[in-house]
Amino acid sequence: MSNNDNPQPTGELTIQTIAMPADTNANGDIFGGWLVSQMDLAAGITAKHRTPGRVVTVAIDSIIFHKPVNVGDIVGCYSKLVTTGRTSMTIDISVWTVTAITHVQQLVAQGRFIYVAIDESGRPRPVAPI
Ligand SMILES: CC(C)(COP(=O)(O)OP(=O)(O)OC[C@H]1O[C@@H](n2cnc3c(N)ncnc32)[C@H](O)[C@@H]1OP(=O)(O)O)[C@@H](O)C(=O)NCCC(=O)NCCS
Repeated sequence: MSNNDNPQPTGELTIQTIAMPADTNANGDIFGGWLVSQMDLAAGITAKHRTPGRVVTVAIDSIIFHKPVNVGDIVGCYSKLVTTGRTSMTIDISVWTVTAITHVQQLVAQGRFIYVAIDESGRPRPVAPI
């Protein structure tokens, strides 16, 4: 069996939680906005680890939802700092679930978040380069 038959998460497990009934949409699946907020939190944690102090999301470059998430699934956000600019950090987040019933692990979403380090006045401040 090749690795492609059993893909595994890469990056650092930054947030792990369980999808709850309160997080569902009208279809009964988990609401995409809830998942985006988990991804944004994970990217924010990675940005703060890189550059302690205030950081903000300036852009979400892309998000892809590959599969629906169901109530009871274990949701893990894996983070990878891709690059830094003068004041910005680009962070890739992939979301993997372990399904409640079958315990299958699968990639459900991916996104790229840009964070900016800011000072007390909300102005961009330098980050250390990779
Ligand atoms: C983030 C913020 C401080 C940046 O201020 P700004 O005046 O645009 O600052 P700059 O033009 O100097 O850009 C700062 C960095 O952000 C990057 N940036 C700005 N807009 C961007 C965009 N749309 N996409 C990607 N990167 C962007 C710049 O390239 C720059 O990166 P670098 O220093 O590494 O080269 C300001 O836009 C802001 O406060 N936005 C609101 C953030 C927020 O509230 N987020 C939460 C939303 S709920």
